[in-house]
Amino acid sequence: MITVEHLKKDFTYYKKHTGLKGSLHNIFHRESLTKEAVRDISFSVGKGEMIGFLGPNGAGKTTTLKMLSGILYPTGGKVEVDGYVPWERKNEFKRRISIVMGQKNQLWWDLPASDSFYLNKCIFGVDDGSYRDIIMELSELLDVKELLNVQVRRLSLGERMKMEILAALIHRPDILFLDEPTIGLDILSQKKIREFLKAYNEQWKTTAIIWRTSRHCVTGRLLSTRGSLYMMGNWAISTGYWERRSCFP
Ligand SMILES: Nc1ncnc2c1ncn2[C@@H]1O[C@H](COP(=O)(O)OP(=O)(O)O)[C@@H](O)[C@H]1O
Ligand SMILES: [Mg+2]
Repeated sequence: MITVEHLKKDFTYYKKHTGLKGSLHNIFHRESLTKEAVRDISFSVGKGEMIGFLGPNGAGKTTTLKMLSGILYPTGGKVEVDGYVPWERKNEFKRRISIVMGQKNQLWWDLPASDSFYLNKCIFGVDDGSYRDIIMELSELLDVKELLNVQVRRLSLGERMKMEILAALIHRPDILFLDEPTIGLDILSQKKIREFLKAYNEQWKTTAIIWRTSRHCVTGRLLSTRGSLYMMGNWAISTGYWERRSCFP
């Protein structure tokens, strides 16, 4: 379902000097620097699998997510997601995936979450019946039924994340990418979200990749249907690959 071969991303940017003299220097002598964000990673995820990728800050998690969802072009390597090359951004591909980013608000801040849900319904052409069913089912499971008509900015972080996840599932994507979905949440809220994702995955067989900074294999286990996790970051970069690491005997 998802295959990644020798994926690589280097960012090129220019060194900036400050002050007037520095600004002039910037114009005439541009010094380019290269940052290696992702180095040669390969892995595959099968249909219905839920995989957790763990890595410290700066490991390249968000960059990987952006390449897998087609927001960024890679510097090298191949990616195929459900038969599509992500960065071609075909409409059919966009319909099949969904992204949840813990660090980014994708809902309209001043409107109730239900308005953002309705917008997603219209964008993806979800019919009225399915839309009603999804909202009923997911708001019940996530325990946010009473909050659907509250302005997003009035919600707690935990409540808002649940709404973000609900919004991402309105069009029933086959593939879900979650980038640190439980960041900043208390232990109980984290647990609830993990349990929801697990239950949803079991019922709908959605393929999911979850990127997280936590190294706790025990919590990762809840999220992984394959029984193993991947590590990345400096530790893995030194070997040139993300390594598959069995956390459980
Ligand atoms: N647009 C960019 N330009 C230059 N460097 C970047 C850019 N985006 C990310 N990076 C660098 O790439 C590395 C990986 O970043 P990121 O994928 O955001 O890591 P993570 O999500 O695992 O914390 C970091 O060192 C970061 O500074
Ligand atoms: Mg990140």
